[in-house]
This record gives sequence, structure tokens and C-alpha cells, in this order.
Amino acid sequence: MRIAIVGSGYVGLVAAACLAELGHEVTCVDNDVAKIDLLNQGVVPIHEECLPELLAKHRNNRLRFTCELRGALAKAAAVFIAVGTPSTEQGEADMSYVEAVSREVARTLDGYKVVVEKSTVPVLTHDWVRRVMLLNGAPPESFDVASNPEFLREGTAVRDFLYPDRIVLGVDNQRSAAVLHEIYEPLTSGRYYQREDRVPGAIDQLPAVIVTSAKSAELIKHASNAFLATKVSFINAVANVCEAVGADIEQVCQGIGADSRIGRKFLYPGIGYGGSCFPKDLKAFQAVARECGYDFRLLEEVSRVNHEQLRNFVRKVKGALWTLRGKKLGVLGLAFKGGTDDVRESPALGVVEMLLREGCEIRAYDPAATERARAVLPQNGISYASSPYDAAQDADALLILTDWKEFATLDLERLRKALAYPIVVDGRNLYDPATMSGAGFIYCSIGRADALAEKPAPVEPSKSSPRIAGDTVAPISPGAQAF
Ligand SMILES: NC(=O)c1ccc[n+]([C@@H]2O[C@H](COP(=O)([O-])OP(=O)(O)OC[C@H]3O[C@@H](n4cnc5c(N)ncnc54)[C@H](O)[C@@H]3O)[C@@H](O)[C@H]2O)c1
Repeated sequence: MRIAIVGSGYVGLVAAACLAELGHEVTCVDNDVAKIDLLNQGVVPIHEECLPELLAKHRNNRLRFTCELRGALAKAAAVFIAVGTPSTEQGEADMSYVEAVSREVARTLDGYKVVVEKSTVPVLTHDWVRRVMLLNGAPPESFDVASNPEFLREGTAVRDFLYPDRIVLGVDNQRSAAVLHEIYEPLTSGRYYQREDRVPGAIDQLPAVIVTSAKSAELIKHASNAFLATKVSFINAVANVCEAVGADIEQVCQGIGADSRIGRKFLYPGIGYGGSCFPKDLKAFQAVARECGYDFRLLEEVSRVNHEQLRNFVRKVKGALWTLRGKKLGVLGLAFKGGTDDVRESPALGVVEMLLREGCEIRAYDPAATERARAVLPQNGISYASSPYDAAQDADALLILTDWKEFATLDLERLRKALAYPIVVDGRNLYDPATMSGAGFIYCSIGRADALAEKPAPVEPSKSSPRIAGDTVAPISPGAQAF
């Protein structure tokens, strides 16, 4: 099937590569000329596992890139809209990119097409897309608008697309339903999973196909993200209670998550959610509810807990170090989560900015997001390291802010020797406190009691901070353990 995808960002590019992988002829359109040039040269503009391999496999074969919509739409059965829907200042979704694409598609139609909303959009957007297209000269019988929300997660986006839990098809008639069913048939029939050259992945059962009205599909996406964000804020709030009473959040999560009605996924305490989706989708969903006359205050509280979590973490760093001005901190992680170079709304950047305002000197390392972070962070007070150990070198403490896999398997001996003081403040609970304490660290994490170094390592005078040269005990305040 011939498919056009408008918007070649994190979603459009992954969807295009995966649809080509399923056997379709895909043309990816973007109005960012530089991005399209890079893609045509074989450069992959984002960090995403398996994506370089898929692009190399299908580029110039079943997958093409262009800035020109007309050519891409020619003879296409479906056009997916995958452009951004950022927040406006009022918190609503800015639908101007979707509107612009709808207008352009209307003026370029060359026969019946299904216009598929892949972007995350407020409920009833499909009505607006239809209206805009009609106003711009598209004959009513020449198109249908459907909603096919995307549930991929950055970092595992390709596997999420090819091995989904469910595929939601929001369609208001049989004709558009048939086109979407055919597009996903290799997954829903299981044909793709029998291929030897498939992207490897685990399949317990075939993806569920959920056919709904377009408006229900639009709501499913907003409600899914709002629910997941709620789960994150909920467990962070429980972690705060654990800290207050000396309970262990990891044990609590195990106990809660074993209930099949709740499940273990997304019960991970940390410094809060971020990224290009949860914060904006939560605000947009609230705005939608407000417009419908419902005050969705629960979601306000979810955002509040999330913001508060950043401040809690900075308080924790203070608790471990007493004063912050002039302190040298190693930072591991800038991306909003592990596995991606995306720093949009990254809580790690939020923490770094707060610490810079406190007068800290930061040396940060991220396996993929350094360049994107450098472009948005202040220039003063921060430098970028080439490895976790380089970030830790001579630092007063090391902070873990992103859950990159490689941060969970550091050489602890090497790390402790690199640090001026063996203090780790872990915003992602990547380590077991007993292990860290056994390895000689003072270890603070989320929702668990702090672990004190079993054998505080003597600091070698040559690499110690000039402030307390030769000091053998970390400068932890008396009240630090209780925060
Ligand atoms: N990133 C995710 O993890 C994720 C997951 C699910 C859904 N979504 C949703 O998908 C949508 C896209 O997100 P993203 O992260 O891929 O955004 P993105 O910013 O990475 O990509 C959007 C792309 O659209 C292009 N674009 C904008 N206007 C255009 C136009 N008129 N014609 C052609 N191209 C145009 C931009 O140049 C950009 O390359 C959003 O609505 C988002 O909420 C994102």
C-alpha cells in the first residue's frame, strides 16, 4: 500500500520506517529542508534503537524522504499526520501545524485517501480536520478522517510500533476502516512475526485491534497519557511518605505491583515524568475537559506533584551536601529518559537548571543527549563530560538523573576513586542501597532510607577539593538522613 507521512520527527520517522518494514511504500514529508537532506544522505537525526538499521534497509527502496507533499500524496491510500502539537501558553494543544497540513492535503488530493491523525490531538480534532479540508476544496467523497493514536515510547519506539499491545483504529465508516486494517494486517495477522528478517522482539499474543469512533480514539490517547502520568505522580507521592516514615518504596512498589489490577509497570519512583508528551498532553486534556465544562482537578494535582518532585530532589542534594554554592557536581543523564536524545521537558534539565541557580558547578554526561541539552541549557557553570567517570572526577557528589541502562552498571570502585567525596544522589533508584554502602558510598535515593558508607574511603590529597583537603568524611549535615 502507498502511504504518505507528514512530519518526520520522533513519531513520523519511526512510523515511516516501521510501515516500510511491514511492506508498504512510504514517503515521509517534512518542511524542515535540513532534516530531509540529512535523511536523504542516510543520516539518522534522532537517537532511537533499531531505527538506523531500518532506515538503512528501506531508504531509497520502500522509503523516501521529501519536502514536497504533492509527489508524496500521489496515489497514496492514506496520509498520516504526525506533526507536533505543542502546548500554547494557555496549556491547550497548538493545532496550527495540524491545520496547516490539513489545508495542504486538501489542495493536493488526487483521489480518495484516508487522512489519519497520528499526532496526539484533542477530542473532536477529526471534525476540524474534515471542516478545514472541505473549506479548502476537497470533495467530501474524496477523503475520510480517522484517528490512529500512537503509543510508542522513545527509547523503544521501533519495537513498540512493531510489537504493540494494541492498535486503536478510530474510524467512522467501513471504507476508512478497511484501509487501516490493511495497513496493519502484517501485525494483526501475525504474518510479520513469522518473518526471519523481522526486528527481533517478544510476542506473547497478537496485538489487540480496538476499533472505535474517531472521537473515542482521540480520547483514548489523552486519557492513556494522563493515566500513566497519574501513576508516576502517585508513586512519587507514596515515595515521599516512605521517606517520612522510613519505609522502603521499592518494597512498597513490589507489594502494590503484584496486584494484577494495578501492575508493576510505571511504578518507578524518581524525579518525575517529562518528555514531549506527558506534560503537554496532561495540560491539553485538562483544557479539553475545561472546554466541555468539566474541571479535571485531579490532573492539576498530578502536575503539581510532578513539579514538586524536582524541588524535593534538589532538597535531597542539599541534605547530602549541606550548602550548594560552589559545589562541584557530576551529573549523569540529561535526556528525559534513557534510550533517547530527547531533552524536551526533561526533569534532568530542570534539576540542572535549579542547581546552576544555586551556584553549583556542573559536569554532565549523557550517552546521546549532550548536544541537544547544550543547545538549551545556560552556558555558564556547566561543562560536558565524555564518560560517567569523567563527570564524577573530583566532584563533591554524583547525581543520577536519567535511567540509562549503562548508569546502572557502573564500575563502583572506579567511580568512588574518581569522586572527591563518595556521595551519590540517585534520582532513579538504579542501585541497591546496601550495595552502594558496601562499595563505600553515601547513597541517597528516592523513597528509601539513605545508606551510609560502610568504609568511607580516604580522599587522596592530590585529587581532593582544596576546600577540605585530606578530609576523610563527607560533608553531610547532621539532619541529612531525615531530609
Ligand atoms: N515523541 C513521542 O514519544 C510521541 C509518542 C506518541 C505521540 N506523539 C505525538 O506525535 C506528534 C509528533 O510528535 P514528535 O515527537 O514526532 O514531534 P517532532 O517535533 O519530533 O516532529 C514533528 C515534525 O513535523 C514537522 N512539521 C511541522 N509542520 C509541518 C508541515 N506543515 N509539513 C511537514 N512537516 C511539518 C517538523 O518539522 C518536525 O520534523 C505529537 O502530537 C506528539 O504528541 C509523540
